[in-house]
Amino acid sequence: MTLILQDKTALRQWREALPAGRRVGFVPTMGALHAGHMSLVTLAQQEADPVVVSIFVNPLQFGPNEDLARYPRPLDADIAKLEAAGVTALFLPSVPDMYPPDASTFVEESMVSGPLCGAERPGHFRGVLTVVLKLLQLVRPQLAVFGQKDAQQCAVIERMVRDLDIPVTIRRGPIVREADGLALSSRNVYLSPADRAAAPLIYQSLKAAAAAHAAGERDAAALARIGLDVLAGAERIEPQYWEARHPESLAPLVEIGPEGALLAVAARLGQTRLIDNVLLTSGAAAAA
Ligand code: PAJ
Repeated sequence: MTLILQDKTALRQWREALPAGRRVGFVPTMGALHAGHMSLVTLAQQEADPVVVSIFVNPLQFGPNEDLARYPRPLDADIAKLEAAGVTALFLPSVPDMYPPDASTFVEESMVSGPLCGAERPGHFRGVLTVVLKLLQLVRPQLAVFGQKDAQQCAVIERMVRDLDIPVTIRRGPIVREADGLALSSRNVYLSPADRAAAPLIYQSLKAAAAAHAAGERDAAALARIGLDVLAGAERIEPQYWEARHPESLAPLVEIGPEGALLAVAARLGQTRLIDNVLLTSGAAAAA
């Protein structure tokens, strides 16, 4: 049975009762769980016991015109998945429990969170970092697992953990995809049938650039052009960015060097914004 911890007090009591020396694993989520989330749970279970999952649709990371109100919340199905996976505990706090009405302290990272999604979603990473730090303080895990699907989120969290000396190991789990290559996302349910049919082109654009890199192309702008060319034919897909960046600092690159690159894309299909990426390692393309 997965223990359901409805608020911070219940979580703290449970956490304090754990015998010292247990390696606690943690997978933070916003729910609407799919195989991508569950792959992170499996990774955590391989290295830690007990494993805690949180479901909290964090208002602080949504912009005023984003999908907070209509974000999917299939809680019963989520709980069934966590039970089936043998997750020890689910932390399910409410918004007022997490944020006092006069909360006035926030976490800001000022470099890695700047470009890509940070440029398009002002305040997004401030909201992510604030809630992730709070969750880490409450759960106090030895290990926390995040998905490479949100590569910039991983990079920003890793920077916060380093800069603020947070005593936790961060692992990245690989991107889980549909058979046609579309990265699993809770937001895929919003796609109309026509948009869903076009969506795999996003991954194809990344694979085309990764193939060019494997064949020797090292010019970052040329890789972006190759990727954007793949998307150009699909009028339903409106690219927001398509860029090759340093895999950790996310600094812009002119040439892809031995440290490789993160190829990252965001695109709109109708009202839905999708992101995807591929990590290039030195010499070869590692399609996550
Ligand atoms: P959410 O979008 O629910 O994602 C929870 C975790 O699942 C994140 O680490 C995300 O990168 C990972 N994930 C999503 N799709 C994936 C896929 N196809 N393959 C592998 N992993 C995938 O990301 C968040 O929630 C929030 O920002 C959060 C970190 C919980 C803070 O509110």
